[in-house]
Amino acid sequence: MDGNGRWAQGRNQIRTQGHLEGLKTAKRIVKAASDLGVSFLTLYVFSTENWKRTAEEVGFIMGLVRQYLREELNFYRENRIRIRHYGDAGGLPSDIAEELREACEDTRHFDGMQVILALNYGGRDEIVRAIRKLLAAGAGKNGEFSEEDFRHYLDNPDIPDPDLIIRTAGEFRTSNFLLWEGAYAEYWITEKLWPDFTEEDFKAALTQFRGRKRRYGGTKV
Ligand code: FPP
Repeated sequence: MDGNGRWAQGRNQIRTQGHLEGLKTAKRIVKAASDLGVSFLTLYVFSTENWKRTAEEVGFIMGLVRQYLREELNFYRENRIRIRHYGDAGGLPSDIAEELREACEDTRHFDGMQVILALNYGGRDEIVRAIRKLLAAGAGKNGEFSEEDFRHYLDNPDIPDPDLIIRTAGEFRTSNFLLWEGAYAEYWITEKLWPDFTEEDFKAALTQFRGRKRRYGGTKV
């Protein structure tokens, strides 16, 4: 959800105003995705590197997360949407970690779309945490250890790899997002800043994605 800061700065507003608009876009896109029958939607809300921002900006984004978790729960219930989390909950403010845990628990039986909030998330961090878990479990000692075995230690082993990663604000980089799971994801990059991203843009990305030939390193289509 890149470009919130630039959106605000372009309007001579403070960066946090961009995050406020970004939250509105996130709500619209979650609704659009649910209406379109998308099964899994991950929102990259806050990375393990975003702590480098000013305390004011970090505090503001965390406040929006709190607000989002409280305000949207009814919408999630009505639409049978399940909330999940990618990232290190241990590094989040304890009240947010608790609200997130409760929201995940509250919605775990829903069979509609799954919305995964990537919060205090980094792809490298997820892989390192997975390695710690597998070492603690004493796994792989016989040397027989497959990619599938490794997946088991990632944050959400049951969630399929992403088909499509949408990047706003015209950036051509992974930004530490789903490094393992996104190995064969298709990218769709738009110059639009996240607060300006619309349901129509989202549909355009899906339509363009449907026409892609995915070979996963092979030659057949
Ligand atoms: C990246 O844009 C955006 C973020 C780090 C924060 C995203 C957070 C929200 C949209 C609000 C919370 C949303 C939910 C769903 C709880 P940037 O600030 O790096 O933009 P810039 O590159 O233009 O400076």
